[in-house]
Amino acid sequence: MNTTISRSNGLVGTVTVPGDKSISHRALMISALANGTSEIHGYLDAADPHSTLHCLRDLGVEIQIRDSIITVRGRGLRGLRAPSGILDAGNSGTTIRLLTGILAGQPFSTTITGDDSLRQRPMKRIIEPLSRMGARIQGSETQTAPLTIAGVSPLHPIEYRMQISSAQVKSAILLAGLFADGITRVTEKTQTRDHTERMLGLTPVKLDDSFVIEVVGGTELRAQRFQVPGDVSSAAFLISAALLVPRSELRILNVGLNATRTRIIEFFRSIGGSIVATRENTVAGEPLGDLLVRSSELHGSVKLEGKQVAELIDEIPILAVTLALAGCCLAVRGAADLRNKESDRIRSLVSNLRALGVEVEEYADGFAFQPKNTLIAAECKTFADHRIAMAFGVAGLVLNGQTVITQSECVDISFPSFWELLRSVERR
Ligand code: S3P
Repeated sequence: MNTTISRSNGLVGTVTVPGDKSISHRALMISALANGTSEIHGYLDAADPHSTLHCLRDLGVEIQIRDSIITVRGRGLRGLRAPSGILDAGNSGTTIRLLTGILAGQPFSTTITGDDSLRQRPMKRIIEPLSRMGARIQGSETQTAPLTIAGVSPLHPIEYRMQISSAQVKSAILLAGLFADGITRVTEKTQTRDHTERMLGLTPVKLDDSFVIEVVGGTELRAQRFQVPGDVSSAAFLISAALLVPRSELRILNVGLNATRTRIIEFFRSIGGSIVATRENTVAGEPLGDLLVRSSELHGSVKLEGKQVAELIDEIPILAVTLALAGCCLAVRGAADLRNKESDRIRSLVSNLRALGVEVEEYADGFAFQPKNTLIAAECKTFADHRIAMAFGVAGLVLNGQTVITQSECVDISFPSFWELLRSVERR
């Protein structure tokens, strides 16, 4: 499906964004391993968490959805059942990587795979530490899915210093650590999203300039009531749209404001964005609040590297589009992992920005562009990547002419109502 976007007269109103994707996956998995029945409120009703939900059902977990509340009958640490077929993680990197951590500690073998995009994404990053813990994991020749995981019970605890910044790898090891006979310790230099730690009740300790997290194998988990806040990574598209489109004022309610996720808000403010947070609160262990965003004159010359890239990993597409449309320059380096996302995001960004008339340089580990005053509406190819689709959808609200977004249904991965929501806030 193609979606055509025209220049907007202003975005006004009060909206909510769908539940946080990272938290929704983790709430399902941790509920499945707990003793007792957990409830998940505010769950992200979208394709990626559904992949996790279906895999867990295939592992014998009873999950009900009623009036948008998810009820999970936890099976305890030792209660998962061998599935009768191959598990399908769909498009979801979080599903395959975190579940592989759990499957590594099971006394049975499982095969897990995913769609064409997921089967190209690197899995060596989890195969290596989980193999050190004793699991036998067989991937393709290039260490991609399908993965066959011969679990071992118990696993060996390990001390692992993260080689790359990745919350998925960190979480896979911590979840596997629940099935080890001893203490598993993970050290990361840049603190990545800490939702798994919060749900497992683990407190990262700052040692020198690193964060150390320990999990004690065999710790029984208690059922919880999860309240999933709105996804700040989804809100980022609406924030950008409201900042860029003149005569806009959007109030976005109940957005997750966990400090490991909010660099994007600080970033928008640093280039002149007017974003005011109110009603800040912590609910079920996660900070949240409302955001009031008004049209702003954006300015700046931005360089992002290493740590900043890791902290903004999912927001690079919208950040790049925002700066290009605001006539700012941007250089992103040390970001090779962007090539391993739902699409090769360096390629996807460079080709679409060029289609709009931005002169972009592409590097193996990033890209850069200079300010350009007049950009042109064009066809933008999403490469079936939800965040590329939404980022260039925002561009369409600012450009003269009609911007066509290809395969626009891919927003179903994280924000199924995105196109409808944009229309609903258009100033009449
Ligand atoms: C996620 C971690 C990030 C992020 C992804 C969700 C998570 O991936 O890009 O959208 O839920 O842990 P990496 O861990 O590969 O950086």
